[in-house]
Amino acid sequence: MCRYIFEQENIIMSNRKSLHGNWSSRTAFILAVTGSAVGLGNIWKFPYITGENGGGAFVLVYLVCVFAVGLPILMSEILMGRRGRRNPVKTMELLGEEEGNSKHWKWLGLWGIVAGFLILSFYSVIAGWALAYVFKSGSGALAGVSAETISSTFGAHLGDWKSLLFWHTFFMLVTAFIVGRGVQRGLEKAVQFLMPALFILLLVLLLYSMNTGHFMDGVKYLFEPDFDKLSPNSWIIAMGHAFFTLSVGMGAIMAYGAYLPQDTSIGTTAVAVVFADTLIALLAGLVIFPIVIANGLDGGSGPGLIFETLPVAFSQMPFGTLFATLFFILLSFAALTSAIGLIEPALAWIIESFKWSRIKAAAVASIIVWVLGLGTVFSFNLWSGEEYQFFGKTVFDNIDYFASNIMLPLGGMFISIFAGWVMCRVSTSDELGFGTDWRYTSWVWLSRIVAPLAVLFVMLAKFGVIKP
Ligand code: TRP
Repeated sequence: MCRYIFEQENIIMSNRKSLHGNWSSRTAFILAVTGSAVGLGNIWKFPYITGENGGGAFVLVYLVCVFAVGLPILMSEILMGRRGRRNPVKTMELLGEEEGNSKHWKWLGLWGIVAGFLILSFYSVIAGWALAYVFKSGSGALAGVSAETISSTFGAHLGDWKSLLFWHTFFMLVTAFIVGRGVQRGLEKAVQFLMPALFILLLVLLLYSMNTGHFMDGVKYLFEPDFDKLSPNSWIIAMGHAFFTLSVGMGAIMAYGAYLPQDTSIGTTAVAVVFADTLIALLAGLVIFPIVIANGLDGGSGPGLIFETLPVAFSQMPFGTLFATLFFILLSFAALTSAIGLIEPALAWIIESFKWSRIKAAAVASIIVWVLGLGTVFSFNLWSGEEYQFFGKTVFDNIDYFASNIMLPLGGMFISIFAGWVMCRVSTSDELGFGTDWRYTSWVWLSRIVAPLAVLFVMLAKFGVIKP
């Protein structure tokens, strides 16, 4: 399959430089990738989809997908990005030709850019909820009130489309401002202390949930698999989430990989990111489900889950108002570092292809996302009725489902096929720096066989072609 067309490979590789500068260090890269991976996916989405899909078995499928499918693809994206050193579209075109295949692989890059726009359109609206909750909790409105009041406050929040629109707009403005200035400046530093702070706050919350008296029930809920509760649809959601939470399948990591210094180990970096991301998601689950059970709430209540459960915990603990405010601030920052990763591939592509300034590219891309986001804003109020739904789901649910569970896995599948089959072994082993030892062999077979087949089976099962 592989036909490497350049004889003097080493000369070409060392000449190729990123057009946007490099990360200042390996740590900076790890932080940036972790910042993109850890976000609303871990704290907002993981608990609610786990609740909707019955707990334990779902978590198990998710974990298997993260390590057997997500990790090798994460490595592939980094290595492809670093080898191409361009935006994902150009990188795919370049590598496709260079490895003796086709330059049409660039369409895979574009597919990812579309997915990024779709994901960010709803991501920004939810991040807006977190921002709104900074002020709701900061004002003390949620202190010392019952779980019912907290839940009705959230209902009222969703009904107020003007407020959702305001915060969505605000969040996109901040995102545009930061990416317009260039990613490295400021952001690297912010991530450096915000991520650890978020982690510590989750540990504080964990202490609370351990004292609810229902901690072990929460643990059981998360880790005791009951496969009867798992439908083909749950499989596809668990797999889609593995892609979503690691930010893979759309070229975002490829774009970041383009700025990675040549001597950094890709394997170690990828493993570190996957562990950090998984740890944070599981922690969020361990915090939330004991609270759900202790207060007789409904774990399957959907996207509002953390906004209806965590305030209950905060309202009952000492310094609750302070912690709640801090928590939603940190959550907003976690969302911001992910939003930047979601839009960066599009920006790099626009700048390199159309020679626009970074500011102009950021403005135009953000306006597109903002308009698309209106669909999500109205999904919770004006358009929540059945007459505005498709396939029995709101606009928000459809965008999320299609982008996260279909576009990301398919994108990831082709990335994996590209890295495993199309690229020459000399190229991939050169980038990974494993030589040909067991780590390289594992990566090759996970990329060639396991990851593509896993995506294929789940898709076929979902569309009823095969029965699991
Ligand atoms: N991983 C992010 C989260 O869990 C969301 C996300 C999906 C993302 N794809 C991405 C972030 C691409 C950055 C780049 O919240």
